[in-house]
Amino acid sequence: MAQVVLENVYKSFPTRHNERVTPVVAQSSLLAPIDAPSVVEKETQEPKQTVSVLRNINLSVADGEFMVLVGPSGCGKSTLLRLIAGLEKISGGNVWVGDRLVNELPPKARDIAMVFQNYALYPHMTVYDNLAFGLRRTLRSDKQRTPSLDNLLVRVTRGLPKQLRYTTARERAVDDRVRNVAQLLQIEALLNRLPKQLSGGQKQRVALGRAIARNPQVFLMDEPLSNLDAKLRAETRAQIVKLQRQLGTTTVYVTHDQTEAMTMGDRIAVMNQGQIQQVAPPLELYNRPATRFVAEFIGSPPMNFLPVQFHAPLSITHPQFRCTLPDRWANVLQNYDQQTLILGIRPEHFHLSTPAPENLLVQIDLVEALGNDTYLAVSFVKQGIQPSLIATTATNTLQVRIPPDQKVSIGEQLWLSLSLDKLHFFEYESGKAIWSD
Ligand SMILES: Nc1ncnc2c1ncn2[C@@H]1O[C@H](COP(=O)(O)OP(=O)(O)OP(=O)(O)O)[C@@H](O)[C@H]1O
Ligand SMILES: [Mg+2]
Repeated sequence: MAQVVLENVYKSFPTRHNERVTPVVAQSSLLAPIDAPSVVEKETQEPKQTVSVLRNINLSVADGEFMVLVGPSGCGKSTLLRLIAGLEKISGGNVWVGDRLVNELPPKARDIAMVFQNYALYPHMTVYDNLAFGLRRTLRSDKQRTPSLDNLLVRVTRGLPKQLRYTTARERAVDDRVRNVAQLLQIEALLNRLPKQLSGGQKQRVALGRAIARNPQVFLMDEPLSNLDAKLRAETRAQIVKLQRQLGTTTVYVTHDQTEAMTMGDRIAVMNQGQIQQVAPPLELYNRPATRFVAEFIGSPPMNFLPVQFHAPLSITHPQFRCTLPDRWANVLQNYDQQTLILGIRPEHFHLSTPAPENLLVQIDLVEALGNDTYLAVSFVKQGIQPSLIATTATNTLQVRIPPDQKVSIGEQLWLSLSLDKLHFFEYESGKAIWSD
């Protein structure tokens, strides 16, 4: 097992005009296991124009840790994973696996197994052989060149019924491992099938099995559950977490599903536009987001944001309400006197209340009753306030959670109070969080 450390990693791709002659290694390797031979890159002679995809990535994944990378589509998650795997060359910085600097090492020398979203199983091989494939290569390249007597016995007994055939020590080791892994993932009954005879969930488990069978130092998983239906997804999610705990293998897991991120990761790295915004355990991200982006990305429905004016020592005003903050804000906010700040409120931190200057009068636009929770989309009721002031709010719609037994209907007006001890503040321009502790 090993830690994975990324130091100041950068990645740029050539732009369309002077693209590499051969498609990037990743394209072919995405369809084949990581231990398949890699395609050699050739480059054109013209000077390069590049587009920067990852910038200044620093991330340390501890030995045995389950690290989740989340972020919107296109933020660079897969690219980062492929850099660790060696399927893409880094443009700057260092990648360490254990105590080895692996920048220049080819994928197969990195002792890493990657699971892709599209399974990447060999279609012409049975499940058994898919599981055994990487293993046979690893064991062969290790030490155990089959001695000539073994070869002879294998050849002589080849025509006999299966149970009478001679098997080499290597093949017995492979068989043991394949059966262990199949048992672990409950796919023993599928070992003789071809991938086309499997459901999506079963293929997914085989792909996981193949990674596990190789017993690598690091697992890299790129949205491995995104093809599964909700139930299977939840089951497989739990299975992966359990397996990872049992095996203790350092894992980097990419998803853009925040439920997966919150439930699976020891820590989560939130990425946006090629940069890491925050790395923290799930609940810390939820309770202390470092930026407005993280606050919005983690949590569903997302946090609400309202621009407010701050007046020292502890007062905030909005065209629709005004309130006094708890004392703990006085120190950190004193530099923001008379400035606009972004107030962040999670949907569960509104409460049905009564008319008061510190409360918000809203109208219900949408009701989503999920059974265990009810979510409302509400908008401010304009109470004789200049429309221009309302228009300056970041959004006029708020997401609010209310108790499921509360009867409400569209068009109804409500007064909402805020949990004052749960408010978040962000700088208006930079979006950086201001923490009160
Ligand atoms: N081979 C490539 N050549 C040029 N640009 C690329 C290449 N591969 C990825 N990119 C660009 O790099 C950015 C990051 O892509 P990446 O696949 O890492 O995103 P992602 O976070 O995994 O997104 P998704 O959630 O949609 O899978 C994108 O803008 C993408 O267009
Ligand atoms: Mg991706």
